[in-house]
Amino acid sequence: MTRPTLTQATGPAHTRILGLGGVRGENLVPNDDLVGPIDSSDEWIRQRTGIVTRSRAGAGTDVLDLAEAAARQALDHAGLTGADIDAVIVSTVTYFHQTPAAAAIIADRIGATPAAAFDISAACAGYCYGIGQADALVRSGAARNVLVIGAEKMSEFVDPADRTISFLLGDGAGAVVIGPSDTPGIGPTVWGSDGSQAQAIRQTHSWIATRDEAAGWPTLRQEGQSVFKWAVWQMAPVAQKALDAAGITADELDAFIPHQANNRIIDQMVKTLKLPDSVVVARDIVDTGNTSAASIPLATERLLREGQVSSGALALQIGFGAGLVYAAQVVVLP
Ligand SMILES: CC(C)(COP(=O)(O)OP(=O)(O)OC[C@H]1O[C@@H](n2cnc3c(N)ncnc32)[C@H](O)[C@@H]1OP(=O)(O)O)[C@@H](O)C(=O)NCCC(=O)NCCS
Repeated sequence: MTRPTLTQATGPAHTRILGLGGVRGENLVPNDDLVGPIDSSDEWIRQRTGIVTRSRAGAGTDVLDLAEAAARQALDHAGLTGADIDAVIVSTVTYFHQTPAAAAIIADRIGATPAAAFDISAACAGYCYGIGQADALVRSGAARNVLVIGAEKMSEFVDPADRTISFLLGDGAGAVVIGPSDTPGIGPTVWGSDGSQAQAIRQTHSWIATRDEAAGWPTLRQEGQSVFKWAVWQMAPVAQKALDAAGITADELDAFIPHQANNRIIDQMVKTLKLPDSVVVARDIVDTGNTSAASIPLATERLLREGQVSSGALALQIGFGAGLVYAAQVVVLP
């Protein structure tokens, strides 16, 4: 007896970002509010990072609220409703429940049930990881429209006395809807990890230690210099690979939207990639700080809102962070 042949799904040949939204924590916290416990100064933080303020959410706003607000904007921008969404992916490292996933709750809040829903943990690379997955889900036929959200309330994991990372961090969420397209709108994702450097950016201790050893609430730490060097020297080649894979040259780009970690990292990447002056470089870090998975969509939202780039612009985006993990792709902006 011959075995029956399975039907395997296939989807449309191309995908693009159909709509985008972003919300920032409602409080703009200036450097001077943070420098006391870390023996720092407004001048030092501006010079070394570019940050002037970071957006932080108040006690009444949580990760889900930020994610939902960004998701609703992205749906509106795409001209879709929750009912049009087949899968919801939330990238976050600051959601306060191990389970269930934030994505399932967001799917319910926006009326996307019974959409597939799951969270991913890829820190500051999480948005680009999500775009790569959404692109693959649509083109495989597993979903028609996918909502990707990067949402973080980093301020919940801040130790005010820590000089390694806390002063960089902000809160916010960015979201996009990925769906079918007549023309290519998302280039190949170049991604990877290096777990041998897991200690470089980390949670101070595990939940088990919090429970058994009364170690207290965990916060974030980083080995700033190692991360800085890794980002500067190893991420530009990843971004270049994403350009090459998309068949795009630097002078054909309209915008460069790297993870908003440090203005000096961005400067060096621009130099290494030999981006011409015509390429608009996202600098949302100056006001918003580092919002991890939310940083690239928020920086994109600003460029579009301020008219620095227009719909249809070609942007190179790259996320990198705790893991260490990274992902980059060229996208057409909605
Ligand atoms: C954190 C970071 C801003 C520190 O800047 P840096 O230039 O590397 O600082 P260094 O650790 O080399 O320290 C330089 C000096 O500043 C001091 N310093 C360090 N942190 C400081 C702070 N928060 N405020 C004031 N002074 C500080 C150090 O004590 C040192 O002083 P010394 O020269 O007298 O010894 C920088 O390393 C960075 O941005 N790293 C990558 C961050 C990142 O991208 N993280 C997230 C990835 S997702």
